[in-house]
Amino acid sequence: MHQAEAAAFLNQKGGVGKTTSVVNVGAGLSILGKKVLIVDLDPQGHLTGFLGIDPDEIDYTIYDVMRGRVHPREAIITRPLRARIYIGGSESQLSMSVIPAALDLSDADTTFANTFEREHLLKRAIARINGDYDYILFDCPPSLGLITVNALVASNKVFIPIQTEFLALKSLESLMEKIESVMAELNPDLTIGGLIATRYDGRKVLSRTVVEALKEQYGALLLDTVIRENIVLAESPRFGKDVFSYRPRSYGMEDYLNLSLEIMGRIAAANTLFSVERGVIKSNVDDAVSDIAGVVSNN
Ligand SMILES: Nc1ncnc2c1ncn2[C@@H]1O[C@H](COP(=O)(O)OP(=O)(O)O)[C@@H](O)[C@H]1O
Ligand SMILES: [Mg+2]
Repeated sequence: MHQAEAAAFLNQKGGVGKTTSVVNVGAGLSILGKKVLIVDLDPQGHLTGFLGIDPDEIDYTIYDVMRGRVHPREAIITRPLRARIYIGGSESQLSMSVIPAALDLSDADTTFANTFEREHLLKRAIARINGDYDYILFDCPPSLGLITVNALVASNKVFIPIQTEFLALKSLESLMEKIESVMAELNPDLTIGGLIATRYDGRKVLSRTVVEALKEQYGALLLDTVIRENIVLAESPRFGKDVFSYRPRSYGMEDYLNLSLEIMGRIAAANTLFSVERGVIKSNVDDAVSDIAGVVSNN
């Protein structure tokens, strides 16, 4: 049976670009023709708010789903992407599925404290809709608590956004330890999809130094795509839009399209056990960027 690729975007540091990456990689993969579900796992509901989902629009949250109160399908909200894509001369309306979160999720640690196999609640719930999607992306909260462990148990890949800033590498050690312990004890299928350098400012020595340090320390685990600091990415949530819908000709769009392609390539490569020639992916990406920039347009 078809199974979605499930990926957690995790870093216990806040402000590193997890939510921005989940929304825009989700949109990027959708534009590339994939069926995508993104799941807000942060009680602060940043992803939910990013997409302009009104609290009134929310019938059920991921907390209801994890508690087994509703089928996950009942919690899904479908957001049309305001970007349109033209395939073979006809316009097709793309959309992305979202499961929202709200503050009630902050009760999870206490509610589930004595629940049997409490680390597997998300995995079990999501298994019921796994076949409906190509990719399921989890936006983790900035902590390594039970919700994050649930995301790691429900995923086959973990991606780690890292802000190219002072002290960026400091929290990585405890993060890697946590991931390794989940791999060893709870989810042998989990692998590290890669580290994503975010909010890169080429004018700053510090940004460049952090990327160099990451390359040196983590080698091929660092994805080739670097997400540049781009104001458009910070503005788009005010309009409830992903970057492809908000500013299709921005650096932000270009970077997130590259990242979506690289993530697709990495997952496919890992699955088929072929190592994909990085150069091949790269040159295809450059072509795809100009193709897609040409076909995506604002409403
Ligand atoms: N590449 C970027 N360029 C400019 N601003 C960014 C970029 N990535 C994230 N931001 C902004 O930085 C803040 C933190 O990003 P966010 O994705 O919410 O991080 P996290 O989910 O890790 O806390 C947000 O205000 C967001 O708009
Ligand atoms: Mg966030």
